[in-house]
Amino acid sequence: MALYSEKVMDHFRNPRNVGVIENADGVGQVGNAKCGDIMKMYLKIENDIIVDVKFETFGCGSAIASSSMATEMIKGKPVAEAMRLTNRAVAEALDGLPDYKMHCSVLAEEAIKSALDDYYAKHPEKKEGA
Ligand code: FES
Repeated sequence: MALYSEKVMDHFRNPRNVGVIENADGVGQVGNAKCGDIMKMYLKIENDIIVDVKFETFGCGSAIASSSMATEMIKGKPVAEAMRLTNRAVAEALDGLPDYKMHCSVLAEEAIKSALDDYYAKHPEKKEGA
């Protein structure tokens, strides 16, 4: 069996939503101290919907594929739904990642949460239950 699924290879070779959003409503950056990989996520939010999302990753192929898939999964979705996105869901959408590469998908989940935290910090009134 191949180490990486076709979906992983596809998103690694043709990552979706790579880039920067100027004047993003939320920006988050996270890193993994062990491998040194870094991921930065930009969100454009209108009426509680993620209307645009872009990412930059200085990281491994699985991190690139995970962030690409994660951006596709939250684009056009309500903020509250994006907040609930788990790395497992991202890995499943990629038809799996090798066990020792699961932490790469964690980076995608954390980058999105960090960008959403930034958004909520700027718009405390939007926070659920506030
Ligand atoms: Fe570090 Fe994949 S090896 S994110």
